[in-house]
Amino acid sequence: MWRKGVAKRNHLVLMTIFYAINNLYTALGSPSVPGWIPNAGDPCADGWQGVQCVGPNITAIILNDADLGGELGENLGIFTSIIMIDLSNNRISGSIPENLPITLRELNIQNNQLSGTLDVLQYLPLNYLNVENNLFSGFVPTKLASIPNFR
Ligand SMILES: *[C@@H]1O[C@H](CO)[C@@H](O)[C@H](O)[C@H]1NC(C)=O
Repeated sequence: MWRKGVAKRNHLVLMTIFYAINNLYTALGSPSVPGWIPNAGDPCADGWQGVQCVGPNITAIILNDADLGGELGENLGIFTSIIMIDLSNNRISGSIPENLPITLRELNIQNNQLSGTLDVLQYLPLNYLNVENNLFSGFVPTKLASIPNFR
C-alpha cells in the first residue's frame, strides 16, 4: 500500500520540477534552445539541451553562450538536486533570486547583466562561484570571498 503512496509522491515531485524548469524557460525569455518548451515535457527523458540528469533528477543546467535574455525567475529553489548551474556569457538581467537550489555547489553567471547584491549566495554550499562582468553592487560577503574559486 505504501509503495503506491511513494510512487504518487515521486510523481508530484517530478511535476513540480517540470513546472520549475518550464518557469525558468519562460523567465529567460523563451529562448530557442533545443528541447526546451514552456509547458510540460520531461527535461531528463527528452534530453533538453544543457540539462544533465542522474535518473529522473536534474543535477546541472549548462546553457553558457546561449543568447539567453530575461531573468532567473523565482522558482529555482524548487530544484532540490541541482549541483551546477552555468549560465555564463548571456544577457540575463534582474537580481539573483532569494530562492535558489540548496544543493548548489557550482555557479557560473559571468558575463551577464545581473544586478543587486550577492548576499543571497552566501547561504549556499558553493565551492565554485564566478560572478565577473555583471552589474552587481554592494560588498562581497566574506563567506563568498573565501570560496577557493571565487571570481
Ligand atoms: C533522485 O532523487 C531522489 C530524492 O532526493 C532520491 O531518493 C533518488 O535516489 C534519486 N535518484 C537517483 C537515480 O539518483
